[in-house]
Amino acid sequence: MTSRVRLFIVLAAAAIAFVALLKLAVLPLLGSTNEEHYRYVIGVSQPNLSDPWLVAMNEEVRAEVRKHSNLQVIFTDAAQNSQQQRADVEKLVSYGIDLLIISLDDPMALTETISEVYAKIPVIVLGRGVTDYDYTLYIGTDNEMIGRKAGEFAAELLKEQEREGRIIELQGVDDSPTVEERSEGFESALDGSGFETIERFHADWQRDKAEDLLLSWFNRQQDGVDLIFAHNEAMAIGAFQAVKRAGLTDIDIIGIDGVNTTSSSRQLVADNKLTATFTSPTGGKEAIRYAIDILNKEKGIPKKVILRSEKVTAESETGGEENAMAGAAGGEDSGSNEGIDSDYVPGNISGIKDRNEKPIVLGFAQVGTESGWRIAHTNSVMSAAQNAGIQLLYENAEQSQERQVEIIREFIRKKVDVIAFSPKTETGWDEVLQEAKEAGIPVILSDREVKAADDTLWTSYIGSDFRDEGRRAASWLLGEAEPDRSYNIIELQGTPDSAPAIGRKRGFDEGIAGDERFRLIASYEGDFTRGKGKELMERALRTYGGDIHVVYAHNDDMALGAIQAIENYGLKPGKDIILISVDATKAALKAISIGKLNLAVECSPLLGPQLMKAVKDLLGGQELPMKIITSEGMFTQSLAKKVLASRDY
Ligand code: AHR
Repeated sequence: MTSRVRLFIVLAAAAIAFVALLKLAVLPLLGSTNEEHYRYVIGVSQPNLSDPWLVAMNEEVRAEVRKHSNLQVIFTDAAQNSQQQRADVEKLVSYGIDLLIISLDDPMALTETISEVYAKIPVIVLGRGVTDYDYTLYIGTDNEMIGRKAGEFAAELLKEQEREGRIIELQGVDDSPTVEERSEGFESALDGSGFETIERFHADWQRDKAEDLLLSWFNRQQDGVDLIFAHNEAMAIGAFQAVKRAGLTDIDIIGIDGVNTTSSSRQLVADNKLTATFTSPTGGKEAIRYAIDILNKEKGIPKKVILRSEKVTAESETGGEENAMAGAAGGEDSGSNEGIDSDYVPGNISGIKDRNEKPIVLGFAQVGTESGWRIAHTNSVMSAAQNAGIQLLYENAEQSQERQVEIIREFIRKKVDVIAFSPKTETGWDEVLQEAKEAGIPVILSDREVKAADDTLWTSYIGSDFRDEGRRAASWLLGEAEPDRSYNIIELQGTPDSAPAIGRKRGFDEGIAGDERFRLIASYEGDFTRGKGKELMERALRTYGGDIHVVYAHNDDMALGAIQAIENYGLKPGKDIILISVDATKAALKAISIGKLNLAVECSPLLGPQLMKAVKDLLGGQELPMKIITSEGMFTQSLAKKVLASRDY
């Protein structure tokens, strides 16, 4: 341990002791005003402060804390040592912090500690994710999407320059979900391009390690490299140093983070030293805002808040001043979008007409009435609009994508303030979203995401993480299944090409992959209705009879239909065949409580209040997160019995 690190630890410990004393002993003696003054103490644990992105994160936290006189924050720096970070966290907790904000280098080393802390106080995981669900809130970016954007940009660039396309990827630490997702996204974009990642190095998010690894590779190699993709800013800067020291030219470097300081990758992009960087907002400001809500026990705290990422190139940086001014006009938060390569700023209301105190008009294009979940969702939107004093124009597309597009066009013609919709499918929306954008009407996606070539065509997504739901269903099954048995699984999918069907299938497939006990013997396309669930299950029973051990249905209605089919066939659902579904509506909880359904992974339809809040925030000038992911549970028999009486839908 260097003397600098030792000094830091001593100072951090002294600060902790001081604040603990302040909070626990001195403030109560000074009466209520001062007690109120330091109402909450928040601990911020950083894995290191050599990464400029983590330094920027702390700066953002500090700036937000300054706005709240009743908050005290203690920062620790583990100086790149996971053991030290565990000790830091334990110390922070022992000194009585009310909430922990933690950023990680190495999730594997810290996951258990985070779970232990979460059993005592709320935990916000900031920037880089952990693998389980034991935390209060995660704030970060969509890492797969960033990787994909970087990959698409790399492929475009290499094609334009007619290069061979040899790529090196500089990754963060091994076994980190952030690293895996960034890499998966990057590779998926290169698929079929003819360009190839020839080397992958784990430089552990560190600049010097990236530089050393690359320099030694350059020394060993005869063949060159055309492009380096670094998973963070520090490593992109390390790559730049290595290329410079090796005297090489014509190597494009793409990074992630885009921290806005003069010595950062963003400056190197502006100076044409790095080709591009994809911003990864640190989330420091949002962490403090949500921390206050959590500590004040506000309702409806999401599980994940995903922030928007933008591409930064020398070209977009040159227009930086102009963009910054446009951002400032859009409200207090819009400055973080300066330098983006589109002048449309999600959440920027400068293009929205002056309201003159007229009620807000929200156009909502519902997908249909296919399930109990959908009815509850519609009811939630309607009652929340009424409670919020928002005028709701509600239309139902009855499962027709064409009709849903027409409805959105009608809303544009009527010049509503905001459009929200639950898209039937993931694709096919680019044109109508472009029309809404040109009309200056922001679009919020309620409950289902879309895939559009330009993700600034929509403002925010509020709903579930469907892939995670599939993963959680699989992980429960893995835990319940006997060690030496094999299981044949039937999957009943939701509407083809819909976001929940895609995500739930993907997550479940990933979850059972590699475990030889499980075999997906058939996966049928359904439509989320009870009738279809019954029909598909009858087909499965005709084909496989008693060889079916597990049914995984993408929603409750299809599972309930399957239960009928299984009973008609003369088997006992929940006993002869394990049944898993997603949604956890009252009807499913009833089936669980009497043992006919084994598990329901929750997908909350109660999205109305969050939607109305988002509409108001947006029209009030606030920038919305790119995605707000709801917090959801899992229901087996004991829990289902407990909550059944109080379940409203
Ligand atoms: O998009 C959410 C899904 O749509 C629900 O899980 C399903 O029941 C519904 O109809």
